[in-house]
Amino acid sequence: MVLNMTSHLYTNLPQRLHFPPPPSSSSSSSFKPHLYLSFKRITLHPQSSSSSIFIHCSSQNSIAITSENRWSLNEMSALVTGGTRGIGRAIVEELASLGAEVHTCARNENELENCLRDWNRSGFRVAGSVCDVSDRSQRENLIETVSSFFDGKLHILVNNVGTNIRKPMVEFTPGEFSILLSTNFESVFHLCQLAYPLLKASEAASVVSISSVSGFVSLKNMSVQSSTKGAINQLTRSLACEWAKDNIRINAVAPWYIKTSMVEQVLSNKDYLEEVYSVTPLGRLGEPREVSSAVAFLCLPASSYITGQILCVDGGMSINGFFPRHD
Ligand SMILES: NC(=O)c1ccc[n+]([C@@H]2O[C@H](COP(=O)([O-])OP(=O)(O)OC[C@H]3O[C@@H](n4cnc5c(N)ncnc54)[C@H](OP(=O)(O)O)[C@@H]3O)[C@@H](O)[C@H]2O)c1
Repeated sequence: MVLNMTSHLYTNLPQRLHFPPPPSSSSSSSFKPHLYLSFKRITLHPQSSSSSIFIHCSSQNSIAITSENRWSLNEMSALVTGGTRGIGRAIVEELASLGAEVHTCARNENELENCLRDWNRSGFRVAGSVCDVSDRSQRENLIETVSSFFDGKLHILVNNVGTNIRKPMVEFTPGEFSILLSTNFESVFHLCQLAYPLLKASEAASVVSISSVSGFVSLKNMSVQSSTKGAINQLTRSLACEWAKDNIRINAVAPWYIKTSMVEQVLSNKDYLEEVYSVTPLGRLGEPREVSSAVAFLCLPASSYITGQILCVDGGMSINGFFPRHD
């Protein structure tokens, strides 16, 4: 008898589970049954060749989450800002290789054209616009272009662009302060605002912003940059709640040192690089592809219950207390 129960609980035998419906809210006039699943019965079919899990809803609506579409971005549209180098480029390629149609932007037209040629040769579906995301009117033009390109629907927005000016806080000029704020935070805020109708129209959207471990811990000469990343982190949590009703998930990825053009110069200092290694439990720098895989996961249907999170991709740096490396 005990053995039977164990096998019932811990194997993938078909089973029926009953859950109460979610509480109905009279104030929620925008309730959409196809977005907010009311589980009545869940039946697992492990014997089927595609290992599909069919979730039957109490209403007429029924979705099939298959092993294919849980890990695929087929038929999805994506905007990735700053896709010609570093982390952004890896994200463009990761999303495109998972089946998404991607639009990207950068300021340098030649670099953008070269990338588009490479991607075209690789068979990726990627288009691009020249755009400086720190400029309000260029952001508006970008979203207009993206809207007409994707017929008013956007499944994925990746706010990747960010920059850095390293110096003590008291030495910042108003111009430098303004560059960091507009490039790193205002662009994220405004692009989310502009993209909202497109994201909502897709009926299941994901926004991922590239934050930094500097949004959690103090790093030398980075008070302003880290404030912009801290702002991204909190906007992520706030929007996750505000836009959950529209089935738009909002997450962020927070890297530590990743091998890109942005940090090439600072890491050319051997002593500094040694210090970086010494506070990184994995003892090395990250690769752009190690960030893009985390971003892709947060865009996939496989992460459909994750929102409002900031995922550190940092070799353990942000959780490192005092752990001497004597061995
Ligand atoms: N690398 C790291 O160690 C690290 C660590 C933590 C967080 N991050 C974050 O990761 C993100 C990407 O950094 P990365 O290291 O990959 O940078 P990167 O190597 O400098 O690449 C930046 C990309 O963004 C574009 N870009 C820069 N400013 C732009 C603007 N104003 N408008 C439009 N496009 C712009 C660049 O092209 P153009 O120059 O042609 O515009 C390029 O394609 C940033 O948000 C950064 O803060 C990086």
